[in-house]
Amino acid sequence: MQIGIIGAGRIGATIARLLARAGHHVNLSNSRGPDSLVCLVQELGSSARAVPVSIAAECSDVTFLAVPWTNLQTLSDRFLFADVILVDTTNPYSHEFEVLDLGECTSSEIVARHFPSARVVKAFNTLYWETLATRGTRHLAHRLIVPLAGNDVVAKATVSELISDCGFAPLDIGTLREGGTLQQPGKLLFNRPLTVSEAKKLLESA
Ligand SMILES: NC(=O)c1ccc[n+]([C@@H]2O[C@H](COP(=O)([O-])OP(=O)(O)OC[C@H]3O[C@@H](n4cnc5c(N)ncnc54)[C@H](OP(=O)(O)O)[C@@H]3O)[C@@H](O)[C@H]2O)c1
Repeated sequence: MQIGIIGAGRIGATIARLLARAGHHVNLSNSRGPDSLVCLVQELGSSARAVPVSIAAECSDVTFLAVPWTNLQTLSDRFLFADVILVDTTNPYSHEFEVLDLGECTSSEIVARHFPSARVVKAFNTLYWETLATRGTRHLAHRLIVPLAGNDVVAKATVSELISDCGFAPLDIGTLREGGTLQQPGKLLFNRPLTVSEAKKLLESA
């Protein structure tokens, strides 16, 4: 697949490495522009290129949003993500790294409102980047879950394939509201490296 990455920092670069290794084409972007991504592109090889944000979104089947929450509003083009599957990896932290109170909404519902044409799936936000970088495995029984939530079933199936390609076990936990809540900082599935059976037990007991 053609993968777009918006925000090539710790989490964006980690996802880019995992997906390039799995054979996908990765279109990387950040706020400073393609020239600042030369080293990362060289590291990833011929399946990667650096592009402006708009290209990363336009030419990709699936685009990852991996910018700090406080920068969401700087991505102002509301039609940028028309019909693209947008994987929201963000967590709603303030500049001071405090969890923001979003009221009844989950952060991904706010992302979906910001990009109304995108098919938003919440995923890859619960594990620390080093866990993602190092704990992927081919051994199915040992895989850690990457929970995902969304309102578009087909989009979730596509993102589940990508999670598997990275060596993790996709666990669909529902809609952006219900599932997304469990994925938020401080909630049940946040920052918990769990196998599928451990996660299912935890969800049953909750
Ligand atoms: N770090 C983790 O372990 C982790 C785990 C799960 C989820 N997350 C979430 O992932 C998101 C990114 O975190 P991070 O730790 O990867 O942050 P980071 O290392 O600071 O990287 C942020 C990236 O976003 C880019 N960026 C900022 N504003 C942008 C814009 N308007 N357009 C395009 N690119 C922009 C930055 O580009 P420049 O450098 O060019 O400014 C940088 O490449 C956050 O929402 C965080 O909560 C992080």
